[in-house]
Amino acid sequence: MKSRIYTQGLIWLRIFNLHMVIPWQKPLLFILLLTPFLLLLSDALLGNLIDPIEEITNPTGQWALRFLLLSLLITPLNKILPFSLIKYRRMISVFSFFYACLHLSIYLIDQNFELQLVLVDVMKRPYITVGFSAFILLFLLTITSTNKMVRCLGGRWKKLHRLIYLIIILVIVHFYWQVKSSTDIEPMIYGLIALLLLGFRINWKR
Ligand code: HEM
Repeated sequence: MKSRIYTQGLIWLRIFNLHMVIPWQKPLLFILLLTPFLLLLSDALLGNLIDPIEEITNPTGQWALRFLLLSLLITPLNKILPFSLIKYRRMISVFSFFYACLHLSIYLIDQNFELQLVLVDVMKRPYITVGFSAFILLFLLTITSTNKMVRCLGGRWKKLHRLIYLIIILVIVHFYWQVKSSTDIEPMIYGLIALLLLGFRINWKR
């Protein structure tokens, strides 16, 4: 009896979702996801950046990675929580791509948009090769994330979107390879979070 009431409670919570508790969720999430960009923009406009290239490249790369991990966290959270968060996953992933685009744009500005220079860098510097591969795959996932593409690709969509795990691994390797100090444990922390999420995914599938 008790478990029936609990199950019914869960069903109602899923139906009503978070809308009852927090209205305007999607616009609110949009603003939250945009906040790091707005803060960076205001810092740049107010002249608060001493080394603009580095001070924009690093945080945009980190936000792209954080939002990637957050989008991966949605699935396990969805299994645990009584309400669904799935509808926010796409917006979070698109924002990850947005920050990756900013990250890449600053790199291109730093290279004066000289394509030849960029190509040499992609071939010669392993961390750039890996970051570039991650970006291409992320681009592929972003352009196939529309409802139309989901319908078009059918069963292949899920298989394609499993590439997200490869992207995360590539980004963490990219992060790890570019750190200058061996005491910088930040990439390890992100790596550990990614491993936990990956582990959850594998266990859940069994
Ligand atoms: C063509 C693609 C990419 C290029 C050319 C690129 C380039 C760079 C560069 C130049 C740095 C700074 C290295 C330094 O300070 O010496 C960097 C750091 C970083 N990148 Fe990328 N990147 C690419 C793709 C990505 C993607 C797709 C992500 C995430 C989704 C990402 C995440 C990061 C992170 C987390 C850092 C470290 C930031 C920090 O040290 O705080 N990068 N990348």
